[in-house]
Amino acid sequence: MNILKFDFSSHGDDRGQLIALEGKRDIPFDIKRVYYIYNTAKGVRRGYHAHKRLEQILICVSGSCKILLDNGFETEEVLLDDPTVGLYISNNMWREMYDFSSDAVLLVLASELYDEKDYIREYQEFIKFIRG
Ligand code: TYD
Repeated sequence: MNILKFDFSSHGDDRGQLIALEGKRDIPFDIKRVYYIYNTAKGVRRGYHAHKRLEQILICVSGSCKILLDNGFETEEVLLDDPTVGLYISNNMWREMYDFSSDAVLLVLASELYDEKDYIREYQEFIKFIRG
């Protein structure tokens, strides 16, 4: 599977690091929504859905977690443990998030506002949707 990762440039100096992200410049879409997942309980696995339209960039800004991507034909596991790296997730991609470290903060930049109708939450429905 083609995994698209973005390497963000960090404005580092002796005070520390700063990363700024602008829609359509540093990432391929306008950012309409931001959310973050933190204080994740041990052993939790979440996600279990795909989106019909939504595109996202996932950045583990603290700690680490793993992402399973499934395009209906192939799967790939991606480790996110670097705040300078953004994982692009296109529409029509099943995702699961797991192995969160206790300090993990997973920041998500989204191309659309929250819309439950955009979700596919049943795996078999996703497979049908993808394969026609
Ligand atoms: P949920 O879809 O279960 O999260 P995940 O897919 O990561 O397992 O979302 C948890 C709750 O948060 C659910 O009640 C919907 C709500 N939510 C919003 O209100 N806005 C949002 O942008 C997101 C992503 C979730």
